[in-house]
Formats: sequence, structure tokens, C-alpha cells
Amino acid sequence: MINAPLPHDDAGTGAPLVLLHAFPLDARIWEPQRAALSGKYRVIAPDFAGFGRARGISGRASIDAHADDIAALLDALELPKATIIGLSMGGYVALAFARRHPERLRALGLADTRPGPDSDEAKAAREASIARVKSEGMGAVIDALMPRLITSAAAPEVRDRIRRMAIVQDHAGVIAALGAMRDRPDQTPFLGAIDVPALVIVGEHDAITPPADTARMGQALPRATMEVVAGAGHLANQEAPDAFNAALLRWLDGLGA
Ligand code: MLT
Repeated sequence: MINAPLPHDDAGTGAPLVLLHAFPLDARIWEPQRAALSGKYRVIAPDFAGFGRARGISGRASIDAHADDIAALLDALELPKATIIGLSMGGYVALAFARRHPERLRALGLADTRPGPDSDEAKAAREASIARVKSEGMGAVIDALMPRLITSAAAPEVRDRIRRMAIVQDHAGVIAALGAMRDRPDQTPFLGAIDVPALVIVGEHDAITPPADTARMGQALPRATMEVVAGAGHLANQEAPDAFNAALLRWLDGLGA
């Protein structure tokens, strides 16, 4: 746990939404969503410990610890409950939050993410990424990752924005997150117990968490709505923000008071 709340954006009024960012990025990935949602909702977007404005806070050794940081943020904001929406790594944290703090969860949004743990191959790839951060820096890491994050059809400015955000991330925070993702537990057995409305949303061409996998996650969640963002890759909220926002708003507006 942390003493001071995570640095975060806080815009709009209404039912609170907490948006959890992907790896190796920060809360700025949510700028297109903040603009679209903050007319109706309170949009809170923290940087995870070790990322963005939270680079001065030690990176966490586990996804569960990041989830506890989000609960501490809700405490600091005096919010008993919120809708938690996470994309990819943010989704791992959102699922851990649902498991560890169910009484704080109004509804759950899972974007381009999965409940399962890393395979042995994926764990080896995390080790290779840790070595690459140390030897070559974040430019090499994001260049290796980019073809899996967005499609080749993505606009050049989307690619540039993601690259600019990634290359300034703190090496220690990135390395800690790679270890936390490598060691994350299997959250699949827990899906059936998540008894709140859930949105499962994924880019049609997501190469990291493909629609077929996220469909299985949606089927295991008792109260899931599923959406596929046409034409988009893994960072669907960046690549197709209008379609992503429309799907998110449809779901949020249907939740009621
Ligand atoms: C992310 O977008 O957060 C990452 O692709 C997640 C991962 O590497 O498992």
C-alpha cells in the first residue's frame, strides 16, 4: 500500500469510473476516453506505481499490489465504490481488484485483456524484455512490441503517440511490471464469482488477447456484455477511439443508477 494516493487525472462529475492503463504506458492513453466520457461521468485515470507521474513510487512486485493501490486511491477520494475499467495490464489489475475488493466494485470493464497466467513461453519473453530494457532501453522495447499493440493500418500519429509515451517510462517501473505480469495468478477460476455487470471489449485484430480468447472470458462472467471494435488491434481505445467510446457509453448508460 502507499501513503499518498496514486497521481491521477480526475475530470467530470457523475458516477465514478476508474480507468487503468496498459503496459508500458500511463494514464495518458485514456485521453480520448476522458474527453468522451467526462460530460456524463467522473473519469479518474491513475498512473500505476512506477509509471508516468508515479515513476517516483516503487514499482510493484505483483498485480495484486497494484489492485490494492487502486483501493487506496478510492479511499483517498472517499469513494466507497466505482466502476473499474482496465485495458490489458490494466485489465489484469481490474480483475485482481474484483477478486480482492469486491465490495468496492460497481461494474467491471475488461478491454483487450485476459484472465489466464503467462505460459512458459510468455514468461521467457518477459525475461527477454527485462534484459532488453537493461541493455537497449525503452526505444528497443517499444519497437519490438509495437507490431502487436496496433495494426499496420493504424494512423502514424497513433504510433508516434504510443512510442513517445513508452520511451520516457522509468526502467525500474517497467522491469517491476514485467515481473508482476510474469508472476500473475490465473484468475480464470474466479470469473464466475464476479457478480456485477461486466463489459468485455476487444479489437477485432488484437494479436495479444484475440477476440476468440476474450469471448471465452465473457462466457465465464455471469453478467457480461461483449463488444468487438472493428479494424482495431490490441490498443483498441487508441486505434479506434470513436467506436471504443461508443461501445463503452452504450454499456455505461445501460447500467442505470
Ligand atoms: C499491455 O498492453 O498492457 C500488455 O500487452 C500486457 C501484457 O504484456 O501481457
